[in-house]
Amino acid sequence: MKILLSGIQPTGEIHIGNYLGALKNWLELQDKYQCHFMVADLHSITIDYNPAEYQETILNTAMDLLAIGIDPKKSILFVQSQVPQHTELCWYFNTLTPIAELERMTQFKDKASQHKENINTGLFDYPVLQAADILLYKSEVVPVGQDQLQHLELTNTIVRKFNNKFGKYYEEIKPVISEGAKIMSLTNPEKKMSKSLGANNLIALSDEPEVIRKKIMSAVTDTGPASDAMSAGVKNLFDLLKLFNATLAHQKLTSAYDNKTLKYSELKTELAEAIIKNLQPIQERKKKLLQNKKQVVKILADGAKKAGKIAGKNILEIKKKMGLL
Ligand code: TYM
Repeated sequence: MKILLSGIQPTGEIHIGNYLGALKNWLELQDKYQCHFMVADLHSITIDYNPAEYQETILNTAMDLLAIGIDPKKSILFVQSQVPQHTELCWYFNTLTPIAELERMTQFKDKASQHKENINTGLFDYPVLQAADILLYKSEVVPVGQDQLQHLELTNTIVRKFNNKFGKYYEEIKPVISEGAKIMSLTNPEKKMSKSLGANNLIALSDEPEVIRKKIMSAVTDTGPASDAMSAGVKNLFDLLKLFNATLAHQKLTSAYDNKTLKYSELKTELAEAIIKNLQPIQERKKKLLQNKKQVVKILADGAKKAGKIAGKNILEIKKKMGLL
């Protein structure tokens, strides 16, 4: 079996962009690959965070992953900082990564402009740590949303540099992109749905039905003067309807759109109910996990142990290749 790794930052509530863009895909890949799923707590400390609440936030993210169906019997689920070889390998890769490559990263540029008072070295080095996450386990398959593709290209640049300098060790990695790889913001549909755009731009996995209805009903539809092309906001709502499996409603409402008889309130009502229906089983499982936090802590400890064993073995090979052993 080929090796797969992906990760998510513990920066608050997981939203339907994360879910449709990546996590739903993770579930389906669990039977095909040897999977590693990681809560990327070292990545999130590159922006301001609350240390007093951080352990709870990390645990909450892990519970969300379990609630959507990540199965610790099939996959290794762990917290990044519990396997210290991630930062060790990041340092080795730093010595292979041209600064100019990191300066090109759009996520760095975006985050640096959002957090002008805290443009730290970790934020700049973020993609190198991501490459270390992936390559520490010799992963070849990486399911992510579209916004991560540039980081995965950098990972392949590091693969080539490593192999050239120290002899062939890595295969190039392959991104896996799903149909929902770029879910747009509800309030600002020219931009991707993101925690940084505020609570109303996203639907969190934990949102109550009433909250979901309210957010969808106030989603932006036509942003400018009417034109023939479907606006980004309306397209996003149609995409969501399809991705949340409301196939019949999608067909019916698409015809109404084509005939110019569509009422956006109808589209929104159908969509809100489809989202509620899809999130309900996830929310039920999450409630049970919240009663059972100790069990979740144990799952993460077991995951870190398994990941640590592989990481420990691989890092020795890497050090030998690099002349450090
Ligand atoms: P993060 O935490 O920002 O997002 C987790 C996953 O959700 C996807 N995603 C989206 N997909 C579709 N539409 C959206 N609006 C949307 N917003 C987010 C992301 O593409 C991602 O797949 N750097 C990573 C975490 C990470 C990682 C890794 C990923 C750390 N190490 C190694 C892969 C491999 C991140 O910030 O994801």
